[in-house]
Amino acid sequence: MSAKKVSAAKSADEQKKEAALEALKLVKPGMSLGLGTGSTANHFIRALGEKVKEGLEVRGVPTSRATAELAKELGIPLTTLGDHPFLDLCVDGADEFDDKLRLIKGGGGALLIEKIVATSAKEVVIITDESKRVKTLGKFPLPIEIVNMGIKATAWKLERAFRMLGMNPKMVLRMKDGQAFRTDMGNVIVDAACDEIKEPERLEFMLNNIPGVVNNGLFIGIASRVIMATSKGTQEITAT
Ligand code: A5P
Repeated sequence: MSAKKVSAAKSADEQKKEAALEALKLVKPGMSLGLGTGSTANHFIRALGEKVKEGLEVRGVPTSRATAELAKELGIPLTTLGDHPFLDLCVDGADEFDDKLRLIKGGGGALLIEKIVATSAKEVVIITDESKRVKTLGKFPLPIEIVNMGIKATAWKLERAFRMLGMNPKMVLRMKDGQAFRTDMGNVIVDAACDEIKEPERLEFMLNNIPGVVNNGLFIGIASRVIMATSKGTQEITAT
C-alpha cells in the first residue's frame, strides 16, 4: 500500500494569503499605508480590514478604484496623497520579480497609480506566491501605459526603443469587452511580450522618455523587500 499524501501543495492563492498575513505584521498603529491592487493585495486589504474592525487605527491610499471600493467596504479609512504625501509603508503584489527586486507590475492595469503611491512610501513590501520569482524579467508581458492619442505613432517609437536594446517584442493593445482597456486614469495599455528583458534599467528610462508613454510596468529600485510564500512557508528576500 502506498503512503497516503497528507498535505497537498498550497495553491497559489493560499500562498498569496500567507504572504499577505506576513506583511500585516509590519503594520503599526497610526501608519499611513499604500494599498496595492490585485488578488494578493486584496488578501492584505481584507486582513487589514479585520484589524481595523478590532480597533487598529491606520489610513490607506488606494492604488486603484477597485482597491478603494474594497477598502471602503471593509471600513478602512482612506486618504489621498494630497493629504498624506509621505506614506510609512506600501504593500502591493507583482507580476514578476528578480533577485535584484526589480519588478514587472501592471497586470491589473494599475501600474501608474501603483508607482506613484509606492514611490511615496518609506518602505515598499511586495507580497507574492513563488511563481512570480524569475531569473530574468520578461516572461510576463511588460505593460506600458500610453495616452490614447497617437497610439500608432507611439507604437513605432516603442518598437524603436526595444530594437535599440536588441529586443523585438510582440506588442498588443490590451482589450476588455471588445474595446481598448482603459486605466483608472483613462489611458490605454500596450503589453509587450519580450520573453527576456535586456537591461531593464535602460529600458524603463527609454520607454518613459517617449512622448505618449505615461509610464511602464518596470519598477526598479522601489521595492525594499519581497515576502514570498512557498509550499514550505514564507521567505523574505531583500535585494542582492
Ligand atoms: C496590478 O496592476 C498589478 O501590478 C498587480 O500588483 C499584479 O498584477 C499582481 O497581481 P496578483 O496579485 O493578482 O497576482
